[in-house]
Amino acid sequence: PFEVVLAKSGRTLQVPAGVSCLKVLREAGTDVDWSCTEGVCGTCETEVLEGDPDHRDAVLTQAEREANETMMPCVSRARGPRLVLNL
Ligand code: FES
Repeated sequence: PFEVVLAKSGRTLQVPAGVSCLKVLREAGTDVDWSCTEGVCGTCETEVLEGDPDHRDAVLTQAEREANETMMPCVSRARGPRLVLNL
């Protein structure tokens, strides 16, 4: 589990183990687009402002992963306790 902070509203959401970050974001009413939900299309790409994503997608290059500027919340999670997303 980890928490996601929505920078634009200041809301904090809990992402339980076994539940995708995208699902939590959608249920919270954020405007994240999505398509494949499997980390291959890149539609859900979301800007990361703080935190260390655990990238599990097949979209980002190694350099993009290391830059930690975006993530695919349909499959990727967090290495630490908290991510701040530009949503
Ligand atoms: Fe396709 Fe996330 S919805 S990469």
